[in-house]
Amino acid sequence: MTHDDLRIDGDRLLRRIGDLAAIGPIDGGGSCRLALTDEDRDGRDLVVTWMHDLGLDVAIDGIGNVVAVRPGRSDGPPVMTGSHIDTVRTGGRYDGNLGVLAGLEVLETLTERGIETEHPFAVAFFTDEEGARFPPDMLGSLVYVGGMGIEDALDITGIDGAVVGDELDRIGYRGPYPCPGPAPHAFVELHIEQGPVLEAEGVTIGAVTGVQGISWTEYTVTGQSNHAGTTPMHLRHDAGFAAAGIVTHVRELATRMGDRQVATVGRLELHPDLVNVVAGSAVLTVDLRNTDEPLLQQAEADLAGYVADLAAAEGVEITSRSLARFEPVVFDERVVDTVAATAERLGRTVSRMPSGAGHDAQMLARVCPTGMVFVPSRDGISHNPAEHTDADDLVAGADVLLQVMLALDRADLGEGAPS
Ligand code: GLV
Ligand code: MN
Ligand code: MN
Repeated sequence: MTHDDLRIDGDRLLRRIGDLAAIGPIDGGGSCRLALTDEDRDGRDLVVTWMHDLGLDVAIDGIGNVVAVRPGRSDGPPVMTGSHIDTVRTGGRYDGNLGVLAGLEVLETLTERGIETEHPFAVAFFTDEEGARFPPDMLGSLVYVGGMGIEDALDITGIDGAVVGDELDRIGYRGPYPCPGPAPHAFVELHIEQGPVLEAEGVTIGAVTGVQGISWTEYTVTGQSNHAGTTPMHLRHDAGFAAAGIVTHVRELATRMGDRQVATVGRLELHPDLVNVVAGSAVLTVDLRNTDEPLLQQAEADLAGYVADLAAAEGVEITSRSLARFEPVVFDERVVDTVAATAERLGRTVSRMPSGAGHDAQMLARVCPTGMVFVPSRDGISHNPAEHTDADDLVAGADVLLQVMLALDRADLGEGAPS
């Protein structure tokens, strides 16, 4: 039996998305559940309750990743899906949440219909995908695949001075299961696109071919705080001016390098942050991304050279700290083809496309055949409470996820990590 006609319960999926979005609500219909805060805990508790209600085996590991499993005919590695339920401070209701709740929906649909699969089926939510409080992003899935040791991860200090291990203990999500976790048979993640491409093309499903490389750096500028009225311009060591130079330079750099290079200063703090005081220090972050690793390295080198010249010219000290560095990832062709063929069979239009955002799937790709399914984002808006995807597209995405997981269950993908 192939269960080609099986579909998820769209109303139940939409209801759960609404219930989860109501935890940590913010103006405009989005949510704020920064990783390991009380709101994140409350969101976790709700999803774990749903997992238990479905009779799934729920395992929590040492970094707080939660994996819920429905047994298969055999005991081997599961066909896994999942994503994250933490958000940025200005989060929408779909980023991450859709993938987790659609995964739950897949497992519930199978249970409701009494369908047996060959492999176990698993749905996971990974800790701190956003990295907005505790860099790097995709922290939980990085630890799950052994890309960072658990002790290093537990020691990470967040932007508010909190420490990952302490916060995990405080919210009760430091679990007994070991990291790294077992490699799945295959992993596929459903996510909103978070960009404008599908909408612009009038296409409803993205078969994601890979994820662009990410480079996050924090710069600390130390100059001389002084009186804004009395300090002659040529005697200033202005941390605010230097920070503004970096902001402007990364925009120019991206424009010069062309389409594939994006560059953002998303965080900037000036001290003492007063109208009549030359800023004595500044802390800012730069996010560089490119689908091409040599080009990303070129952008990093260009910026490093500029920062050194800037420090000398303004007479300030600029130190840097890497917050995240992940090379571009190419997904398994067999999984990408399965996503595209499945979506077409379900009557959807499909585009093959790379992902601009980071995702847990890019970490899982290190240990098993992996792919992703995208659905459109209205106006390409995300990391914003205005984030929106039409209900029809959300439900279609979950149906594609279900059918892709069933196809991967039947597929002979060989053993071990992909080459
Ligand atoms: C994480 O989700 C990112 O793309 O910044
Ligand atoms: Mn996400
Ligand atoms: Mn996000």
